[in-house]
This record gives sequence, structure tokens and C-alpha cells, in this order.
Amino acid sequence: MKLGNRLQLIASKIEKGSTVVDIGTDHAHLPIYLVNKGLSKKVIATEILSGPFEKAWKNIKKFGCQNYIDLRLGSGLKPIKPGEGDIAVIAGMGAINIVQIISESRETADSFKKLILQPMRNQAKLREFLLTAGYQIIDEDVTMEANKFYEVIVAKKGIRKAFDEIDILVGPVLRNKKSSVIYEYINYRIRKLENIIRGLEISQSGKKLILEQKKHLDALKEVIR
Ligand SMILES: C[S@@+](CC[C@H](N)C(=O)[O-])C[C@H]1O[C@@H](n2cnc3c(N)ncnc32)[C@H](O)[C@@H]1O
Repeated sequence: MKLGNRLQLIASKIEKGSTVVDIGTDHAHLPIYLVNKGLSKKVIATEILSGPFEKAWKNIKKFGCQNYIDLRLGSGLKPIKPGEGDIAVIAGMGAINIVQIISESRETADSFKKLILQPMRNQAKLREFLLTAGYQIIDEDVTMEANKFYEVIVAKKGIRKAFDEIDILVGPVLRNKKSSVIYEYINYRIRKLENIIRGLEISQSGKKLILEQKKHLDALKEVIR
């Protein structure tokens, strides 16, 4: 099983020997990779829909991983008991869905050594939730696959600390991390936001909205200055 850059980045954040819980496993590519590479002795994978569940089961059998991957049908962390895994991965979904999954199972979510989260959109909303709810963001990264950027956020239960707008918009770790892909990603976001602001100005949208977007733009520019 060869992973794309997005799942590979997630796998790189998993310490060897960890029991991993993969929420919304779909094709079960990550669990199969972790078991076949000897990175995990056991993975618990959950899936909410029967179609992907069947697909996951077929792949697990195809790669001979039945004894190492425990596939469970159900929503979010509900099929998992507190303490059943070391690391939870919630990847390939919108941030709103990820926030809901964590919020409705706080005891289980807080029992992991870390949560590896890969939101497809609304990343700032996920950071705001994590930082407000007392999670510490311990690592962040960006990768590119098929011409799209993907963010990975690693969090663990901690104590609530002060945070600012750049922590939410860019991330407390990402804002200080230097790499060419992060630089490209921030520049991409700056260009996108400049286009949005131009559009808002042309359509004479509300001043408050334009000012808010300009503040976001300044925050992004500040990070790569
Ligand atoms: C786009 S796929 C991502 C698959 C894989 N995690 C990855 O990152 O490549 C999202 C999967 O999450 C599942 N899903 C969405 N919400 C879920 C929930 N609350 N609980 C479990 N699975 C969920 C979907 O059915 C789908 O199979």
C-alpha cells in the first residue's frame, strides 16, 4: 500500500508501536499501511456509512490485515471506549464535522495521547475550537497532493492558554515553522484573499466585512514577513 502525500504526512506523525484509532476510515488505506509497515500492531477503524465500511473490509481482507484491524460501524468516536487507543486520526472531513466528533465524545477524545486532525476546510474554526476547549496544538504541517494544499493539526488535551488571531488563522506552530511548502501555502492564501477583497470592493460589499478580510490579510502577510 503506497500512500499519497496527505496520508503519508499523517502517518509520519505516528510513533511506532502506537495503537491508532482511525475515524472515518473509508478505504482503510491508512490502517493497512500502518499495519503492513509494522508501525502499529493494532488499529481500530470506524466508518459511519455502510458503503465505505464494506470497501474498508474488502481492502482489509485483500491485504490480509483482518487480525490487526478492528473495523467498527458507527459515528465518530462513539464506537470507541476511553483508553482503547494511543492516537486518534480524524482526516479528510470538514472541520465542523471534526469539531462535532470531538465535542460529543470528550471523555474518549481526551484519553488519547494525541489527536491527528486533517480538516479539508474551515481550519480556523477547528483551531478556535481546540484552543478554546483547552487542547494544546503541539504540531502542524502542510503538504501538497495533486496541486492542493492540506493542513495537518496535532493536538492533545492540555490547559487553556491565551491565543491570538494569528494562532487561529495560521496556527500556533505553523506561524513559526519555516519550510518552502508552508511559504507557498501562505502565499497562496494571500493571493486568494486579495482576490476576495477585490471582489468585495467591486461589489461594494459592507465596509465591516472588507475590513475584517483586510485584517486577515495583514495577519497572513505578517507571518511570512
Ligand atoms: C473523504 S473520506 C476520508 C477517508 C480517510 N479518513 C482519509 O483521510 O483518506 C471521509 C470518510 O469519513 C466518513 N465519515 C464522515 N463523518 C463520519 C463520522 N461522524 N463518523 C465516522 N465516519 C465518518 C465518511 O463516510 C467517509 O468515508
